[in-house]
Amino acid sequence: MSQLFRAPRGTFDLVPPRGEAILAVREAMAAPLRRAGYGYVETPTFEETALFVRAVGESTDVVSKEMYSFTTRGGDDVTLRPEGTAPVLRAALEHNLHRGPVPVKLWYSGSYYRYERPQKGRFRHFSQVGAEAIGTEDPAIDAELIVLAVDAYRALGLTVRLLVNSLGSDESRPAYRAALQDYLRRRDLDDETRERVELNPLRVLDDKRPEMQAVLKEAPVIADFLSAADRAHHDALRALLTDAGVDYEDDPRLVRGLDYYTRTLFEFVHDGLGAQSAVGGGGRYDGLSELLGGPRLPGVGWALGVERTLLAVEAEGRALPGTGGVDVFAVPLGEVAARRLFAVVTELRRAGVAADMATGARGLKGSMKAADRSGARYAIVVGERDLADGVAQIKDLRSGDQAPASLQTLVAELRKRLGAPDA
Ligand code: HAM
Repeated sequence: MSQLFRAPRGTFDLVPPRGEAILAVREAMAAPLRRAGYGYVETPTFEETALFVRAVGESTDVVSKEMYSFTTRGGDDVTLRPEGTAPVLRAALEHNLHRGPVPVKLWYSGSYYRYERPQKGRFRHFSQVGAEAIGTEDPAIDAELIVLAVDAYRALGLTVRLLVNSLGSDESRPAYRAALQDYLRRRDLDDETRERVELNPLRVLDDKRPEMQAVLKEAPVIADFLSAADRAHHDALRALLTDAGVDYEDDPRLVRGLDYYTRTLFEFVHDGLGAQSAVGGGGRYDGLSELLGGPRLPGVGWALGVERTLLAVEAEGRALPGTGGVDVFAVPLGEVAARRLFAVVTELRRAGVAADMATGARGLKGSMKAADRSGARYAIVVGERDLADGVAQIKDLRSGDQAPASLQTLVAELRKRLGAPDA
């Protein structure tokens, strides 16, 4: 016998009831965006490799170590998308969405791929719900996006911390970059870090090793280098968050693994997850459009990790609403009853009642066990005698009470008992 296939390393299957739970998480993330006028966008799961190299940055881990890149049979270099911002901005530019009313507000939901070292909460295939607002510098839109994410976490009953920082614009960053490089060049660092100092010094701030944390304690912070305009932008965002009743922590060392960020930067952290504690994050990318050959077009957005958020929900022991199951389970005894109940179950489903039925010759005992497992409130049992009498037995699976009801009016009777609105 050949060996059973397994899901590839770093990937996972979601089977019920977790499969249902992940849908509930996505739905909770999407609902606030829909209420705020964001339109749904879908882009391909792969793009030209150059798009990500240009947008995310050649020296980032994502581009240099983690991309699933390949050459197609036709000779095109493509990459499974490691993130969603570059593709969504590419699509917005390609379809001239920015020529209409701005900001262009878009949201998306899908799978992303990064060849990372798998561990709890870090996968090679994962999913995000994301949002991008393109075409304005107004800090009100940064605040709006953050509040919408906070509302999503609240709807899921989660307690998350919000970290915020400003990376400054082109006005502020070169001076900070130089000061940070100057500071780091004078420390005793390993070769790889030394190289990073020259290529991408801000990434060094993300080094979590204790010896590097010690080195970084005294490092200059971007806050001291912000231009007046950058500072005003960041202060306006912070004031709006405070007005909205959103708690945040200023984290002057917060950096993120993608090079396109300017000004606003933020991350949502859950403390029950161990090392992979970032459940979501985002920021501004005012220079990205030009980098992709578009006009000057500021933008801001975020992406929330769906699986990590589900892990957080589970860590807090929260239940998610509407996770599967049916309301009614039909148990036919014999072939004629099975045909009759097939019609009843179809009618119930069409009337909006979640219903299922026992199939195969399982017998009363096996079928009732299936009814219990289905989570249904009511079982409907029909045998030959019942058919002759034109009735079904409705059994309340919670109380155990059983009573006959006319087959003619069975659907209406069940809808009434379930408190369904009038059809
Ligand atoms: P990111 O921080 O790379 O940002 O990813 C966002 C979220 O996706 C993370 O906070 C995490 O929850 C989840 N995530 C990332 N990598 C993995 C992984 N390997 N396994 C499981 N979950 C993961 C972005 O992707 C940006 N595009 C966000 C953005 C939108 N910035 C502006 N607009």
